[in-house]
Amino acid sequence: MSKITIAIDGFSSTGKSTLAKQLAKALGYVYVDTGAMYRAVTLFAMRNGFIGGESEKLEDLVQLLPKIKLRFEPNEALGFSEMYLNGENIEKQIRTLEVSNYVSRVAEIEQVRYKLVEMQKEMGKEKGVVMDGRDIGTVVFPDAELKVFMTASPQARATRRYKELLDRGEKVSYEEVLENVQKRDYIDSNREFSPLRKADDAIEFDNSDMGLKEQFERLLSIARRFI
Ligand code: C5P
Repeated sequence: MSKITIAIDGFSSTGKSTLAKQLAKALGYVYVDTGAMYRAVTLFAMRNGFIGGESEKLEDLVQLLPKIKLRFEPNEALGFSEMYLNGENIEKQIRTLEVSNYVSRVAEIEQVRYKLVEMQKEMGKEKGVVMDGRDIGTVVFPDAELKVFMTASPQARATRRYKELLDRGEKVSYEEVLENVQKRDYIDSNREFSPLRKADDAIEFDNSDMGLKEQFERLLSIARRFI
């Protein structure tokens, strides 16, 4: 069976990563969560006071980009890979609402995008990959054989994300989460470099009223048509 590239893009908290992970596992493909990479750079920027503090110095982040070493390492027990920043496992730290509140501003920076897109191209060059993000079908792999664009109502997405954050023990309100989801969508869709867009040849997948099992089965049957 030939291996293909599967690009899954879409709005925040549409459940892209859960689905992409399941799909990769079913097909024996590698899964790459590109959002984790932007989140890792954001955590680095926060820890160094480049964003979120009294005085923001995003230009200094650009200077230090070569010092940011990112890698995914498989966690055999969990069955998926985790994100490492300069040798430290930061999987938990990058999923907080605080990181979500800053990540879209870091993802607007051209040099940040350039660095991460190069890494993503390298990770997917052998095909047999399911990569999720915002610009995978438009910029990273414009020639991907299968492109999926996921959408759902902002309320459906905020509800899912809110539950996820509560489960992780974060103290957040539904309103805060809804505001974050809408704000990120706005910044992601309106930024100058690689804005979030549905590629012309992407299949739109609205999962507002669909359970996980149904989404997975539908996506798997779509994928099988392309392999
Ligand atoms: O997918 P996730 O919600 O974790 O992504 C976090 C943020 O990273 C997005 O809101 C977006 O600003 C940025 N991102 C991006 N391009 C990607 C993946 C994520 O700009 N390919």
